[in-house]
Amino acid sequence: MPLNIAVIGLGWWGRIVVPLARTSSRLRVVRVADPAPAAAEFAQSQNLPLSTNLDDALRDPNVQGVVLCTPHTQHTDQIVRAANAKKHVFCEKPLAMSRADVLKSVGACNANGVKLAVGHEKRFEPPIQEAMRLVKSGELGTPLQIEANFVQDKFLSLAADNWRLSAKEAPAGPMTATGIHLLDLSVGVFGAADRVFANVRQLGSQLVNGDTLGILVNFRSGANALLSAILATPFDGRFAVYCNKGWVEVRDKAHPESPKGWTLTVHRQGGEKGTRDFPPAKAVLANLEAFADAATGGAPYPVPQEQMIANVSALEAIFKSAQSGRVEPVEN
Ligand SMILES: NC(=O)c1ccc[n+]([C@@H]2O[C@H](COP(=O)([O-])OP(=O)(O)OC[C@H]3O[C@@H](n4cnc5c(N)ncnc54)[C@H](O)[C@@H]3O)[C@@H](O)[C@H]2O)c1
Repeated sequence: MPLNIAVIGLGWWGRIVVPLARTSSRLRVVRVADPAPAAAEFAQSQNLPLSTNLDDALRDPNVQGVVLCTPHTQHTDQIVRAANAKKHVFCEKPLAMSRADVLKSVGACNANGVKLAVGHEKRFEPPIQEAMRLVKSGELGTPLQIEANFVQDKFLSLAADNWRLSAKEAPAGPMTATGIHLLDLSVGVFGAADRVFANVRQLGSQLVNGDTLGILVNFRSGANALLSAILATPFDGRFAVYCNKGWVEVRDKAHPESPKGWTLTVHRQGGEKGTRDFPPAKAVLANLEAFADAATGGAPYPVPQEQMIANVSALEAIFKSAQSGRVEPVEN
């Protein structure tokens, strides 16, 4: 049986999620919700009932789960309300803005016996899954250090008062837009972080909240992740894990919004660099389907809750470091 979902928030991402989810036999979009007047036309074009607020959507007994595509500071409250209404929750990234809030959300979902999933689709990209397999299997030896970047210029045309450019909704400039995906992958490799240093500046655009972010994350194991997130340069995406018997790198050919495939490079000790091209794949849909499977009693959602918590804990420390200019400890 498919999972009946309501998509909450019909902006850029919600309008990608609705038609995408409708291509899947494992999901059924039964309602959408957004208070903005422009949402009515979209709901009508999709022939879907529209709620103007979350609570109205939660009252629909036909809705089994929600997909939250709303501004960042609303996520925690919306997750808790949905969980208390016994609805499964898929929340877009970042899952929360602080460790206290992510603990609240995880606690509410567990207490109500509903599943929680998060919009980190990079984990569902086939070459990333292959890179993770190589690292986790030990084939490349001990993982030592990550280098990753996710840069884009999609926000340059946003109005200056757009919520995505505000210091409250998007502390540390590009962090909640793109850097958070890299942090999530790094936590997937190394687990909980120990301390961070982040520097954000406005160097190449009108984005007053900062367009250029460099981060050094030091993990409990002692390993590092060097993360780069920029909002004032054309798209690039790269994730590389260096290990003591080889390294693996995934390079994106295009933004995840319209995937064009990836190149995977592996260099094993004593061997030669080998590359392999991966065709485009629908990672965003794969993530939503994994949520649906978990919610309907199938395979567990593949991102463990302790990694969701570790990611947001490190995120909070990055916000602090970008403000203080100092190395900040990560609460664990
Ligand atoms: N996974 C990804 O790659 C990816 C890509 C883009 C955006 N996102 C995430 O998706 C979320 C939404 O971002 P966006 O770019 O679509 O923003 P957006 O501003 O384009 O859309 C947000 C929508 O939410 C609506 N909204 C605001 N408050 C609401 C409420 N209380 N209830 C219901 N709807 C409400 C707004 O009216 C708006 O239509 C963010 O968390 C963002 O980080 C994820």
